[in-house]
Amino acid sequence: MIGKLNHIAIAVPNLDEAVHLYRDVLGAQVSAEEDLPEHGVTTVFVELGNTKLELLQALGDNSPIAKFMAANPAGGIHHFCLEVDDINTAMQTAKQNNLRVLGDGKAKTGAHDKPVIFIHPKDTLGCLVEFEQV
Ligand code: CO
Repeated sequence: MIGKLNHIAIAVPNLDEAVHLYRDVLGAQVSAEEDLPEHGVTTVFVELGNTKLELLQALGDNSPIAKFMAANPAGGIHHFCLEVDDINTAMQTAKQNNLRVLGDGKAKTGAHDKPVIFIHPKDTLGCLVEFEQV
């Protein structure tokens, strides 16, 4: 069902400083900032050629990464994203195998305007996993 690693997401306390590190110090190509109010984050993507890093900063008072940031004030790896051909198949497979889909159980539109779902990390070896339809 799963395909390529689409990205690894790193939650950061300060997006400007994170962009400075990856763009100016490490010399990577970094996208423009994008606010995703539906996900409670502001994101940029760092292009690595074979995959990407997604740098996340909390957006708004009820950001889903607020708890993570409280536990990891310096930042940390938050989730990784695997590509799937069909988000509905991914959803069905998850539900049939007791992998909890976060949120209201419906796919949301992710940072690339593609449908995504997240699986509860307790059901996926302690890692928050995002599936993105490509
Ligand atoms: Co992501």
